[in-house]
Amino acid sequence: MARRKLIYEGKAKILYEGPEPGTFVQYFKDDATAFNAEKKDVIEGKGVLNNRLSEYFMVGLASIGVPTHFLKRLNMREQLIRQCEIIPLEVIVRNRAAGSICKRLGLEEGATLPRPIIEFCYKDDSLGDPLVAEEHIIAFGWASQQDLDDMVALALRVNDFMSGLMHGVGITLVDFKIEIGRVWDNEFQRLVVADEISPDSCRLWDQKTGQKLDKDVFRRDLGNLADAYTEVARRLGVLPANVSPASKPTLVN
Ligand SMILES: Nc1ncnc2c1ncn2[C@@H]1O[C@H](COP(=O)(O)OP(=O)(O)OP(=O)(O)O)[C@@H](O)[C@H]1O
Ligand SMILES: [Mg+2]
Repeated sequence: MARRKLIYEGKAKILYEGPEPGTFVQYFKDDATAFNAEKKDVIEGKGVLNNRLSEYFMVGLASIGVPTHFLKRLNMREQLIRQCEIIPLEVIVRNRAAGSICKRLGLEEGATLPRPIIEFCYKDDSLGDPLVAEEHIIAFGWASQQDLDDMVALALRVNDFMSGLMHGVGITLVDFKIEIGRVWDNEFQRLVVADEISPDSCRLWDQKTGQKLDKDVFRRDLGNLADAYTEVARRLGVLPANVSPASKPTLVN
């Protein structure tokens, strides 16, 4: 294959120049990292699963009118996306308490929150992606008040869609993180859901058993990560029902 221009290599994905101006190819690696990359491993098949699952969620979001950067899946590990200017914030939506909010506020893991809570973290690995307030975001010009309002609305729509989808297959969407980007149509700016939506960026608990089906399996050494992601894909009908966890992921269509 012709060599493509590398745009950026991150911890989990690689961006290449796309075939048309304003597009990128997003390649999903098998690398898993946690705790700000202090813990690392290669999980065979993870990239294939995340590519397919992110496609599935983004296509579903588009079908209910939520704009995303996704254009087309190209192959097992790559998807064509719209290039955008990533707003340097991780937008986190929490339905139940887990992870950093438990430590910060002394909440018990799994505690139901009074309503979905949105948090913003400043995307900077060297600082450990610190939690920031709207005040910082506006004062430092990372996003305008209008952007912030639009980001909250977008995040809540993603939450409604993802919660419903997961509930339908017996999974609780505990929390998730998205990245949002700006695209321009002539002089008009629009915000789109960018990056990925996958079990790397969500907390997913089985409703009956409480079993974790997300990256916490890797963070806490709870078993095989690819098996957990395969289970999510299988329940959603993204993988054939009879795939055994030990076999490599096979795509449906
Ligand atoms: N549509 C897009 N246009 C431009 N950049 C994008 C788009 N979607 C995702 N990105 C960026 O591509 C990179 C994906 O790589 P990866 O997720 O592996 O990065 P990372 O190691 O998590 O680092 P980062 O701290 O930059 O997120 C991220 O920097 C993400 O913000
Ligand atoms: Mg990332």
